[in-house]
Amino acid sequence: MTQIRDTSRDMRIDPDSFAGGYFRNAVYRHWDPYEDIPQELLEQDRERLLDTEGNEERFEAFRTALALFGAGEEAVTEDLMPLGLVLEDIDDQMFLSSQIYEEAKHTQFFDRYWREVVNPVAEAEDVDVTEPTDQRYFPEGYVELFDRTEAAMERLLDDDTPENRAKAYCHYHLVVESVLAQTGYYGFNARFNEDGPDVYDDADIDQPELDGLVKGVNLIRSDEGRHVGFGMQKVRHLIHEEDVDPEIVQGTLQDLLPLVSEAVQATATEEIDPTPLVEYATEKLTRRIEILTDEEADIPPVEDLVQLDDTGATGAAD
Ligand SMILES: [Fe+2]
Ligand SMILES: [Fe+2]
Repeated sequence: MTQIRDTSRDMRIDPDSFAGGYFRNAVYRHWDPYEDIPQELLEQDRERLLDTEGNEERFEAFRTALALFGAGEEAVTEDLMPLGLVLEDIDDQMFLSSQIYEEAKHTQFFDRYWREVVNPVAEAEDVDVTEPTDQRYFPEGYVELFDRTEAAMERLLDDDTPENRAKAYCHYHLVVESVLAQTGYYGFNARFNEDGPDVYDDADIDQPELDGLVKGVNLIRSDEGRHVGFGMQKVRHLIHEEDVDPEIVQGTLQDLLPLVSEAVQATATEEIDPTPLVEYATEKLTRRIEILTDEEADIPPVEDLVQLDDTGATGAAD
């Protein structure tokens, strides 16, 4: 809808609105999937993967995780547009445009990593060189989660109601971006970042430190902190100001949890037990529901949501 004759405001945008602040934060924190992850870091990742006492099963689990996250970033890049079409406010639309751009950069990072690290390592190790789109990587539950997310987003084009908006945010921002992506990125830090969280009891597994991967994943994770914050704000508004029944939100989130858990389990091997990550995902979901439904709860300021500590955790990782 064109706003040229909109007389309801003086200035074009409201930098003090929450979406205006989020947009400024996105611009300020801009990064480049090529420039900011130097070639040398990816070369080092390659060498360290080749130096690791490895077996084929472990490498397969590693590239499965990368295939899953690359596909996930591609899917969210494609599926956000319907929300951009229904949002009315210019500050919201500006934020959303930054989000689509960021999802596209996340997709680009995983594509680059596959080309420059995964395939060269496979070649050098003399195992099958595969494509990141190979269907072998995608379990049913994962495909179903993204199919349902796409449907929830597209529903907005035909039936834009407060309930359907809440469901769209629940699928996209809360389950895919908050629970699934943040759990996966936490898992990457646990395995490949020296300072990452201590998740795996079995310290005997020889896991290389992959600084290039960790750097890219943590830049992505910081962006996701902002995206999730936006979705949380919107769902809280829908519940507390527009009378969306919190049961709808809770029910949607809980219905999707088994699919998240199936996706997380797809990256397990005999050596790597996925249970701690499934627990992390479940706790995260529970905490999200509390913040959404409690009228007194506060979402931290965007500066905190995007801040990373040494372990790769964001302020959103509560
Ligand atoms: Fe993303
Ligand atoms: Fe995102």
